[in-house]
Amino acid sequence: MSQKFAGVKGMNDLLPPQIATWQRIEGIARNLFGNYGFSEVRTPVAEDTALFVRSVGEVTDIVKKEMYTFDDKGGRSLTLRPEGTAPAVRAYVEHGVAATEPLTRWFYLGPMFRYERMKTGRYRQFYQLGAEVWGSADAATDVELISLCHAYLQAIGVPEVVLHLNSLGDEASRPAYQETLRAHFQPFLAAMSEDARGTLERNPMRLLDSKEEALQAAIASAPALLEVIDDASRAHFDQVRRLLDALGIAYVIDPKLVRGLDYYVRTTFEFIYQPRSGENALGTAGTVCGGGRYDGLVKGLGGPDKPGVGFAMGLDRLAMLVGALGQGRAGGPQLFVGTFDGPLRETAIALVMRLRNQGLMVDFDPRGGKLGRQNERADKVGARYFAVYGQDEHARGVLRLKDLTLPRDTPDDHPGKYQDVPVEQLASWLLTRKEGPP
Ligand code: HAM
Repeated sequence: MSQKFAGVKGMNDLLPPQIATWQRIEGIARNLFGNYGFSEVRTPVAEDTALFVRSVGEVTDIVKKEMYTFDDKGGRSLTLRPEGTAPAVRAYVEHGVAATEPLTRWFYLGPMFRYERMKTGRYRQFYQLGAEVWGSADAATDVELISLCHAYLQAIGVPEVVLHLNSLGDEASRPAYQETLRAHFQPFLAAMSEDARGTLERNPMRLLDSKEEALQAAIASAPALLEVIDDASRAHFDQVRRLLDALGIAYVIDPKLVRGLDYYVRTTFEFIYQPRSGENALGTAGTVCGGGRYDGLVKGLGGPDKPGVGFAMGLDRLAMLVGALGQGRAGGPQLFVGTFDGPLRETAIALVMRLRNQGLMVDFDPRGGKLGRQNERADKVGARYFAVYGQDEHARGVLRLKDLTLPRDTPDDHPGKYQDVPVEQLASWLLTRKEGPP
């Protein structure tokens, strides 16, 4: 008896047509993040549940509603990581990294899990490309990270992203502001959901993030934290702005940008995809990057008193945008060899393997069959050239390469449609025509 299965809702398969885009943007990330002095780390997908409750915050949507939490067979409560900062800080503290280097720059790339309501650009398993810096409280580090994000988005070809910037001040300016907010939201208590009332009680700043219809007017008129932050945080914020201006990176100040996680202090930022015209391919899930400073987290997780700042980008959203904007790459073979049935078939197949071993992407149809079919297959897999290996070619030691990138109705005598290349020179000839990213 057979049984058919579907993948888990909100968790996507990435099939070969999409993978070319993913590999391209991941490759660019590894290069660019390396240029900025970041080293890659890989932490496990599951962590002690308490790590996220403590760092992301008990009253956040992530911890309240979205975590994949389960007991393992030893009775430990584990959670599939909903984000990468807490695990990175845990590893940084656990391995005593601060003792050997005063400044640490790490990046990571991998799947995260949140039980969210699904829609375009919002999934339950999604991929983040994140970066964290520990050991510098200087505004230059905040800006270094923002600049990295900005450069990366340009490098992969995502235009029309707007940088939103805010400062949350330090921990000390928080209680007074929370009180002001409680007073501000008080008149709206009756109209609020039970959930929002709880949030007002425990962490009213979270309400500024709320999508609840009844709260939107109150949110719009809420006093801005930016107006009441401490002097040192204000000076830090001004310095961030000056450095961004010096780099020519445009931003808008967004006083409601509190972010959905509790560990932030001072600078917070998001890059939001906002096309000036046409449909937004990401719908309402337009935030492609979020980050900020979290100076108390390392100490709060048992480490030394080291300031931290970082960001994470949603790779699913970026891959979608890059694909929608036509920046993806087909990634087809350079040559497709057509073969005849008969004694030369082995020689032709051996040629294909030899070229592959020499570093070229070469394909053939192992099922053989009519040449016209093989040519169609070459077209379908996006090959650059098609060549038949038969008796005549074997005798002359030459392959006649047909350029498949020319329009179908190009006359046969068009220069460049066919080119004879000696078999012995094929590898070097194709290498000089190798296309695509480095
Ligand atoms: P976050 O804003 O929760 O921040 O997530 C960062 C990015 O991950 C979002 O801007 C979005 O592009 C992507 N993302 C989040 N949830 C989903 C989802 N369900 N489906 C698809 N993409 C999603 C953090 O996670 C912080 N750890 C960032 C950070 C690093 N702050 C300091 N260091």
